[in-house]
Amino acid sequence: MGFVQTGRAERLRIVELPHPADVPTFAQDVERGLLATPKTLPSKYFYDALGSTLFDAITLLPEYYLTRAETEILREWGWEMVRALDAPIELLELGSGSAAKTRILIEEALRVQGRLHYSPIDISPQALRASADALIAAYDGIAITAYAADYFTVLASDTLTFTRAVLALFLGSNIGNYDPADAAALLGALGRRLRSGDGLLLGVDLKKDRRTLELAYDDPAGVTAAFDKNVLGRINRELGGTFDLADFRHVAVYDEQCGRVDSFLEAQRNVTVEIAATQSRIVFASGERIHTESSYKYDPAGIERLAREAGFKLRRSWFDGAQRFSVNLLVKP
Ligand code: TRP
Repeated sequence: MGFVQTGRAERLRIVELPHPADVPTFAQDVERGLLATPKTLPSKYFYDALGSTLFDAITLLPEYYLTRAETEILREWGWEMVRALDAPIELLELGSGSAAKTRILIEEALRVQGRLHYSPIDISPQALRASADALIAAYDGIAITAYAADYFTVLASDTLTFTRAVLALFLGSNIGNYDPADAAALLGALGRRLRSGDGLLLGVDLKKDRRTLELAYDDPAGVTAAFDKNVLGRINRELGGTFDLADFRHVAVYDEQCGRVDSFLEAQRNVTVEIAATQSRIVFASGERIHTESSYKYDPAGIERLAREAGFKLRRSWFDGAQRFSVNLLVKP
């Protein structure tokens, strides 16, 4: 009724960064990983349009407790999390995906300050575009600068700038997919882009019994298996690979010593695969595995150590009622 509303298009900027020369391409990573012993593929390649959708399905599985536990924590304590820094703040999110949980924090921040700038980073341009469009439509007070690239590319880029106190979000056990040294390096790189007093909300899954963990990463309905195998489908689609997905089985094993769940794709027979883009032939012996992901689990002392090694101070941890998961506020000194 007569008031001027900022247009949707003006509130959304999608930044496509050029692929840096020193970051390997999909083809280079696939070639290197599948010619290595043991064979391995980087987990960031799970998330094409289909993979991001399959991951969203994982978060609905009864066995995948992580998303529900984290959502419970954000619903209960989100109001306190966004008020931990002096308003006004802006949000930076690494690995935003569909941004379903982020909405809880966005709504709390809008309650405090009416307007909010949100900068999501996601490797999947399709997931990023869909979630950004939905957020712009849902919240009049939000402006978004979205980055479709991997984290290190964005953190190294000078197009990433802030005008307010930053609350960075790294949710969903995303950090667990890095081994502890790489995790500290990634959070350290993030910390170097922040100013003193800025914060990081870090979702961290907790160590627990083997059965619960292995079911969370290998559900009986086979959604996780489909998600894991999609990386082979992606090699077929994008690099001209000849994988038959039925030749492989998804396996998840909790390595208690290292505190991590390892996911593998295991060849069910002797298999030879050609990959046109890299002109390579890959030979699998029956039973041979490709390591596709590690998901590290922490205890409170481990979270404290991670924060310290990354150059942050752990200010507070929140837990769900069943103590399965944690959200931690790290502050840059
Ligand atoms: N970041 C998620 C996690 O570690 C990704 C994930 C869930 C995943 N299930 C998986 C990766 C199964 C590989 C295989 O919890």
